[in-house]
Amino acid sequence: MTVDRALWHPFADMGAVRRSRLVLARADGPWVWDTDGRRYLDATASLWYSNLGHGRAEIADAVHRQMRALDAYSIFGDFANEPALALADRLAGLAPLPGSRVFLGSGGGDMIDAAAKIARAYHAQRGNAERVHLISRANAYHGTHGIGTSVGGISANEAGFGPLVQATSSVAHDDAGALEEEIVRVGPERVAAFFCEPVIGAGGVLLPRDGYLEAVAAICRRHGVLFVADCVISAFGRLGTWLGIDRWDVRPDLVTLAKGISNGALPLGALIVAPHVAEPFFPDGPGAPVLRHGQTYAGHPACCAAAGAALDIYERSGLIERGRTLEAPLAAALAPLAGHPLVGEVRAGLGFLAGIDLGADALAADPGLVGEWQIRCREAGVLVRPLRRGIAISPPLTCTEEEIGLIVTGIASGLDAVAARRGL
Ligand SMILES: Cc1ncc(COP(=O)(O)O)c(C=O)c1O
Repeated sequence: MTVDRALWHPFADMGAVRRSRLVLARADGPWVWDTDGRRYLDATASLWYSNLGHGRAEIADAVHRQMRALDAYSIFGDFANEPALALADRLAGLAPLPGSRVFLGSGGGDMIDAAAKIARAYHAQRGNAERVHLISRANAYHGTHGIGTSVGGISANEAGFGPLVQATSSVAHDDAGALEEEIVRVGPERVAAFFCEPVIGAGGVLLPRDGYLEAVAAICRRHGVLFVADCVISAFGRLGTWLGIDRWDVRPDLVTLAKGISNGALPLGALIVAPHVAEPFFPDGPGAPVLRHGQTYAGHPACCAAAGAALDIYERSGLIERGRTLEAPLAAALAPLAGHPLVGEVRAGLGFLAGIDLGADALAADPGLVGEWQIRCREAGVLVRPLRRGIAISPPLTCTEEEIGLIVTGIASGLDAVAARRGL
């Protein structure tokens, strides 16, 4: 049945949505139900964020209590609220460097824009105003705000919008030498920052080569370029550690966080800023340079209360480490899919996430295969995320090995259904 409704869905073929819209009504743990009462296993933790599973009463209660006390108030200027102060202190305690500061916003894209502006402002404060160039990686995804779109590495996301932010460029995602060459080409004295997801998520679940992250961190340090670790997906247990990037022995200058920080229950982003970067903006007395940047809902007390409750659960549940414990079982469970005639590659084994690509020939013959595979998985009761060449999964960290088995069975039967319908 086709029903026309007013809602314009992000990243959606609205002509197709009219026929396939999935209207969800409730959720509990790794399960969600649609309005017809049909149950699905949420193999993507919604959009990579429900790391603790859905329906956490403790988060709902914390938000409820906060909204009855102070429902909303901005933190612009000298205003503050306890949930925002407490959250920033807790995140600073997780920071790679002691004495870090924390800037808050409403999601990952907010934090990417903040990171880019803070990087440029930091260099300007140090007398290097010409250091504005931003380098990122092919296949990267840094959200869809102005700067995030400009430093993204998925060309389809930039097409058709006209000129974007200037002074950006992109390098191969897996070649540290290419970063150094690009810094030298642009001129180190003109480069502000390098943006890097520890594991590239939406761009295909691309795992870093051994030594890559340490190498790019060292190159950045050598050239005075700030290293921005975009941990929006990688943090909060997805890679088995708090921040994601802390799985490696590197010290990023800026770390972007969002999604799992509040378990997605309310919108929130956070940016950890290393002490040396924040320092020009935090002098002892008045007269500091003002960072003229921030979103209305930065430090929203209800959102920060949700994050505070989520952090409590991460702390006491052991789920952060579980992201690492489950990586081998997930990879082992998915491995047989590599033998399916439609599958090109299975990428797993680092953190509780995976990418499964269709074969290049099958995709070239029929670019609609990914969309159809997603729908067939859904018919098999498993929600997966479609990417350019295949699907991604990033289930809640609460998933049992039995539920991992159900996910893999659903994906396999989705593949079989695609193959059968296409006569492959
Ligand atoms: C690595 C990364 N950075 C930034 C973002 C943007 O976050 P948001 O959609 O909350 O703006 C995303 C979103 O998926 C992401 O995966």
